[in-house]
Amino acid sequence: MAIFHVPLKKKIDDSYDIEIGSNLFGSLITDLKNGLIKNVSKYALITDSNVEKLYGRTLSQILKKSGFEIELFTFKAGEASKTRTTKARLEDRLIERRFGRDSCIIALGGGVVTDLAGFIAGTFSRGIPFINYATTLLAAADASIGGKTAVDTPAATNLIGLFFQPKKVYIDIHTWQTLSLRDIQCGLAETIKHACMADAAFFEYLEQHIEDMLDVESGKKILDKTACEHIVRKNCELKYNVVRKDETETNLRQILNLGHTIGRALEPVSKYTLLHGEAVAIGIALQIRLGVKFGYLNQNQAERVVALLKRAGLPTEIPNSINKQTLLATLYTDKKVRKNKIRFVFQKGIGSMMRFKDGSYSREVSEQEIKSVL
Ligand SMILES: NC(=O)c1ccc[n+]([C@@H]2O[C@H](COP(=O)([O-])OP(=O)(O)OC[C@H]3O[C@@H](n4cnc5c(N)ncnc54)[C@H](O)[C@@H]3O)[C@@H](O)[C@H]2O)c1
Repeated sequence: MAIFHVPLKKKIDDSYDIEIGSNLFGSLITDLKNGLIKNVSKYALITDSNVEKLYGRTLSQILKKSGFEIELFTFKAGEASKTRTTKARLEDRLIERRFGRDSCIIALGGGVVTDLAGFIAGTFSRGIPFINYATTLLAAADASIGGKTAVDTPAATNLIGLFFQPKKVYIDIHTWQTLSLRDIQCGLAETIKHACMADAAFFEYLEQHIEDMLDVESGKKILDKTACEHIVRKNCELKYNVVRKDETETNLRQILNLGHTIGRALEPVSKYTLLHGEAVAIGIALQIRLGVKFGYLNQNQAERVVALLKRAGLPTEIPNSINKQTLLATLYTDKKVRKNKIRFVFQKGIGSMMRFKDGSYSREVSEQEIKSVL
């Protein structure tokens, strides 16, 4: 018998920039011309059916006029498209159109587009570069940054995917003007999550400025530029403080899961009638109820978080239409499950996270305890 050792220690620099601003197509073109990504002969602009009409066709034309070889690939908008089937269809179309290793993907859209297109980039020809151009607050706050890419399965969301970092992220605040109020609320859910998790001062900022973003009573978007920019910068900063320490979620990165244990399960159980941010908001509120029971935060802190979620127009209760037994069963598909036990991460007061005796940021919670807050 012979053993041949394969030495493959790698030093990887996956650093990239996140550009925050308004109307960033010009920046993207300049970056591409200046060689942001080397040795690319063809660009695949991947977007969804809504974003195609609003921004996709324009960007495609601008890229063509600037001399780039580019093709637009569109799929039907919505979470229901974030599947292995859509991924395979897009990949087949890329192959038909002779995209290969010398290609680059530009993901233009919200979190569904950046998750799906990023996953395609990570596996196509064993990995080709990609760029995220985020057009929703949720993608800006969370989905487009951090390198998690995935598709959903009928059992649960984001079950199949990989960690794969983009070459650059553009966050175009101007595109939020065309977002629905509901989609802005969803982005605020992830924003409130970040504040609860890691920054009491940012939480206070949101308490003071949430109405600079939207007016729930009149159903109007406000989108004050200073508030938008501050919120994006803070989200990037808070997420990055976690991701750079634990890129592949061995422990610390679990804290980004705040509110997601129940939130992720609620999405498929509601048949996606609840959007990601809405499901996360309910998940945060239920995590808080459990947290108060366990003594991780006090009643006043709990009330402040629930009040802020409500002022952002977000739900904090499980809708009656949800079958609680199915929800409970779906919790077992969560990534944090160990030895068939459901685990949660918990905020500690407002602005920090619980770390448990074994060093882990998550702890087991029994079905009985979960049922008591459902
Ligand atoms: N990878 C991660 O770390 C991570 C983190 C959080 C969420 N996510 C994923 O993100 C997804 C949710 O993101 P999302 O809310 O952006 O979803 P989305 O991409 O479906 O966008 C929401 C809706 O807004 C439309 N839209 C996008 N930009 C628009 C614009 N500028 N104007 C008008 N309409 C626009 C879309 O067509 C869609 O109908 C979920 O799939 C979730 O799992 C991923």
